[in-house]
Amino acid sequence: MKTKTSFYCTECGNEFPKWAGRCMACGAWNTIAERPTEAAVRRSSSARKDNRTAISLGGNRKARPITELSTAEELRFATGMGELDRVLGGGAVKGSLVLVGGAPGIGKSTLMLQICAQLCSTGDVLYVSGEESEHQLKMRAERLHVCNSNLYVLSETNLSDILESVHENKPNVLIIDSIQTMFSDALDTPPGSIGQVKECTMTLMQLAKGEGVTVFVIGHVNKEGSIAGPKVLEHMVDCVLYFEGDQHMSYRILRAAKNRFGATNEIGVFEMADKGLAEVANPSETLLSGRPQDAPGTCVTCAMEGARPVLAEIQALIAPTAYANPRRTSNGLDYNRSAMLMAVLEKRGGLKISNCDAYLNVIGGLSLDEPAADLAIMIALASSYLDAPVGSDLAAIGEVGLTGELRSVQSIGQRLCEVQRLGFHKCVVPWQKTDKLTGLDNLELIRVKTIGQALQAVLGK
Ligand SMILES: Nc1ncnc2c1ncn2[C@@H]1O[C@H](COP(=O)(O)OP(=O)(O)OP(=O)(O)O)[C@@H](O)[C@H]1O
Ligand SMILES: [Mg+2]
Repeated sequence: MKTKTSFYCTECGNEFPKWAGRCMACGAWNTIAERPTEAAVRRSSSARKDNRTAISLGGNRKARPITELSTAEELRFATGMGELDRVLGGGAVKGSLVLVGGAPGIGKSTLMLQICAQLCSTGDVLYVSGEESEHQLKMRAERLHVCNSNLYVLSETNLSDILESVHENKPNVLIIDSIQTMFSDALDTPPGSIGQVKECTMTLMQLAKGEGVTVFVIGHVNKEGSIAGPKVLEHMVDCVLYFEGDQHMSYRILRAAKNRFGATNEIGVFEMADKGLAEVANPSETLLSGRPQDAPGTCVTCAMEGARPVLAEIQALIAPTAYANPRRTSNGLDYNRSAMLMAVLEKRGGLKISNCDAYLNVIGGLSLDEPAADLAIMIALASSYLDAPVGSDLAAIGEVGLTGELRSVQSIGQRLCEVQRLGFHKCVVPWQKTDKLTGLDNLELIRVKTIGQALQAVLGK
């Protein structure tokens, strides 16, 4: 029998009898999704009870004083990928459900298969793929050197068959690749639909909490870059990680958008190579390698990627324009902010760049949306305009205001330690809050109040 569905808006929650492209209640486009009616949901949960693979949440039904509960068995374990452990808040938690999202081909399956190498040394792992055959998985595992007898693979999309296999093999860790390909018999809607994604995640959550299996779920992302499926999906799971990166660059960044067991301000940096993903423990050094010496138009700054300071090189090219309207482009930087900084440079720095084309680029495919990069952007622009190189041992950190004043930035101490660690000897910083910094014996701070002073100190202009 066909399951009855109703339609609702994922933005405002209003219900409709029919699908429409636009929500009539809140006016949002493309937010109407279907879900089974209450009666159908009741039917599906009773069907699950009949099923011998039915799973209930762990714990007994009686409320207990919190002091009687013990956390001794609440184990964290290492995944073998230091960068992933860092993002998870110091390792994966037993019985948690982690959702990993990312663009197509970014390396989600590779990351999950690679952690199996370590996970298999302490227990069994079941890798379920709805996207690749068992032979294809074996080929990939061989390439990544993760062939281990504790690693079980299954090419399956039916959730009840997967649960059966879980009960048979009793793995410590279950990996689902991907949630959009899985389907539950309880619903008649196709895999990947809102109802199916929600139902499958709910069942996997019960498995994680009830049986203490750690579940990693891979999720596709939609065109806006968030995980495809209902908004509630992110509320249901314990951790949401996003795997990001430029298709054309080999660097990949893993970020936590939500973590019930740790902070969300940590990032992990990886590099995609032939043998899979390699951890980049020292991203600053990698990003700065190959930096040109004594070339005009480049300046190094220190950005905070989550809680981690990362050095980034900003390059600028300024040339007289051949057009009526000069061309302005910026890669990895906010276009409007760059335009504003150019206006400040002209008005407060006295450089006539309004009749020049200007190109800005952040090396390594990084994207810097922090105001702390302002000063380095302006120094790179001025260096290119004046054709005067910036010293190769100099970095710049600071926000620039519309009057050309320099403003302090957060975590300046941490940033300067990173600058010093990478062997820089000078750093231009805002005047405020930089007089009492300690532990910077090998770094000369050039403390300035305005952009004019900064250009004078760095380029002699
Ligand atoms: N034989 C190979 N040699 C080198 N690199 C490879 C090889 N096969 C795949 N890769 C790299 O791995 C990437 C694909 O990784 P992976 O399949 O893990 O991505 P994914 O995020 O799971 O993709 P999808 O969303 O399609 O499942 C490719 O873009 C490529 O860079
Ligand atoms: Mg994949």
